[in-house]
Amino acid sequence: MINLKPLKIAGVGYCIPETVITNDDLTKLYETSDEWIYSRTGIKERRVVSGNETAIDLGFKAATQALEKSKIKPEDVDCIISAASVPPQLYPTLSCTLQAKLGIPKGVPAFDLTAACTGLIYALQVARGFIGSGIYKNILIVASDNNSKITDWNDRGTSILFGDGAGAMVVTESTDGVDDILSINISADGSIGQLIYTDMPGQNCPLVKPADSVGDGKIRMNGKEVYKFAVTTVPKYVEECISKSGMTSDEIDYLIPHQANQRIIEAIQQRLKYSDEKVISNIKYYGNTSAASIPIALVEGVEQGKIKLGSTAILCGFGAGMTWGAAVVRLREGIC
Ligand code: UT7
Repeated sequence: MINLKPLKIAGVGYCIPETVITNDDLTKLYETSDEWIYSRTGIKERRVVSGNETAIDLGFKAATQALEKSKIKPEDVDCIISAASVPPQLYPTLSCTLQAKLGIPKGVPAFDLTAACTGLIYALQVARGFIGSGIYKNILIVASDNNSKITDWNDRGTSILFGDGAGAMVVTESTDGVDDILSINISADGSIGQLIYTDMPGQNCPLVKPADSVGDGKIRMNGKEVYKFAVTTVPKYVEECISKSGMTSDEIDYLIPHQANQRIIEAIQQRLKYSDEKVISNIKYYGNTSAASIPIALVEGVEQGKIKLGSTAILCGFGAGMTWGAAVVRLREGIC
């Protein structure tokens, strides 16, 4: 066993765009109904960027809030990781753009990590490795996605689900010896990768034989199989993560899951035998905001009095890849 330095979750922030698209609005695009969408997903509305607003603007606001809460100044951040699947530009990466925008010094490493909706937990595990080994001390994680930009708005099987949003977390080396990560695990299975995919739009070199098809850059999903995968894999995985933490599920205060489908959240809740008060769900208002959904649910849960800080939580996510992950964490007072 490697002895890692303890990690502190020092600050968390979020940002959601103003523009609301309701289920009724979607009936203008295709045949559907509020009843159909709500009963199958728990979603009533979602937020999307409009005009020139992008994941950079949302990520900037979420990161600024997380930095303020953490009391870490931009000049003291020594690594930036963006969990971005739908950034406005492939490069420069979202993290590089945010480095300049936030006033984080030149030279500080900045990179994006793509693990779709599990991105926040993947980034947390990577940050834990860096901090635990002493390579970096103060890491900014930003999860910001504009799913609306790659949604096929003619496809009623996918466009009902997704929304835009950003979340951010500042993690630092813990100076009081207390580790805020009680256990964490990340996983992937590329053999079922085609359950959710987005082909890069592209072209052929005009001097070569063309490929049979070029990507259209839109989300494609086998919803039924993703649903089955999620309800069979995630609840069991969450239980294993809790057991690794040395705690029992009863001892953990909250479940803060990735917000993909209310029925998937309920499957995890039932497995843990949690009352509704212990489960944080805001999917009704935001839909699936990818890697941003966990920090959005956390901070909003605190703002709405559903989460009391000075507590513990199990975070869990799953998404394209397929990827999945879970972490039992300590939520200190004052982090959001
Ligand atoms: O981060 C990971 C993100 N992904 C997920 O978590 C997705 C998990 N999967 C799901 O949430 C569900 O599969 C959906 C909510 C997306 C779809 O529910 P479903 O019960 O699996 O529906 P389905 O795709 O099997 O479609 C059933 C029927 C079809 O009609 P027919 O062929 O039976 O006549 C669809 O055409 O429902 C129809 N349908 C709709 N009807 C009204 C599909 N979408 C809609 C819609 N409104 N929006």
